[in-house]
Amino acid sequence: MSIIHAERITKVFNPRGKGAITALSELTLDVREGEIFGLLGPNGAGKTTFIKVLLDIITPTAGNGTLLGSPLGTSKAKAMIGYLPENHRYPDFLTGAQVLRYFGKLSGMATATLDARIVDRLRLVGMEQWYKTKIRKYSKGMMQRIGLAQALINDPKLVILDEPTDGVDPLGRKEIRDLLMRLRDEGKTVFLNSHLLSEVELICDRVAILNKGRLIRIGTVKELTMQENTFRIGIQGVVPDTLHTQWEATRVSVRKEAEELVCMLPDVTALNAMIDQLRAADVSITRISEQRQSLEDMFIDVISREEMQ
Ligand SMILES: Nc1ncnc2c1ncn2[C@@H]1O[C@H](COP(=O)(O)OP(=O)(O)OP(=O)(O)O)[C@@H](O)[C@H]1O
Ligand SMILES: [Mg+2]
Repeated sequence: MSIIHAERITKVFNPRGKGAITALSELTLDVREGEIFGLLGPNGAGKTTFIKVLLDIITPTAGNGTLLGSPLGTSKAKAMIGYLPENHRYPDFLTGAQVLRYFGKLSGMATATLDARIVDRLRLVGMEQWYKTKIRKYSKGMMQRIGLAQALINDPKLVILDEPTDGVDPLGRKEIRDLLMRLRDEGKTVFLNSHLLSEVELICDRVAILNKGRLIRIGTVKELTMQENTFRIGIQGVVPDTLHTQWEATRVSVRKEAEELVCMLPDVTALNAMIDQLRAADVSITRISEQRQSLEDMFIDVISREEMQ
């Protein structure tokens, strides 16, 4: 089931003015139940705009969709959603616990449930020592943690997080990643925006890349980072020069790296032919894998290719 379904969402800011900005252009995507979905893109790509459209904070110029089965622009789904906004600000005279209470009350929670939930959420984000401290004294990372606790106060089915680890130190980021994975294990759906690609790579089941309001890639991290037709073959033994000459003549690109051959081959048949050649030359094969790029390399690649167009 699609938890988020967006169909051809377009958002143009200042449509009639001189400075019309197309923040989203016919964006279609689906987020499935129980996955961690990452929306990536450079600054100004339209990530926050998309979240705001989903949450009915801004109205799209065109397009439609559903959120937890209800049409976008209606409020029914909101009770089942948690939201951590980008650059959130809470009244700084409140303590951490008071912020949670405030948002819990806004969600319509009964006091008895709320008290226990506040304690639980503070513990979940590692802020149980700081609940009595006014948030004006919080560090950036502490603010993010309390923001995350706020997004989870109503035990939502869908959590929408705009840059959840912004300003959080490496240890804290790891804790937040673990927390998001635990939420997924509980069957919740997590939708997040992030710049931190190495992090997204670690936790997201699927990702989409947005550039200038347009969707340019969508898939699992594995799908997006696979380099087509490049294989790494682990070997033991000496590859005879005759084989290298043969490969050069047939324009098969082979590079030797330590105990591995990195090969660009047209297809799997060519891979098998190469393995036959190696085996015939008494070279042992220790493993074969597809070459992968990091998500960051892939991201830089696709965005710079777009820039050149
Ligand atoms: N209220 C607004 N009025 C006019 N233009 C806006 C408004 N909000 C966003 N924009 C423009 O829409 C585009 C997309 O902005 P958005 O905030 O969605 O980007 P983003 O992908 O979240 O970027 P970042 O990674 O910096 O958070 C930008 O060009 C931005 O200037
Ligand atoms: Mg943003």
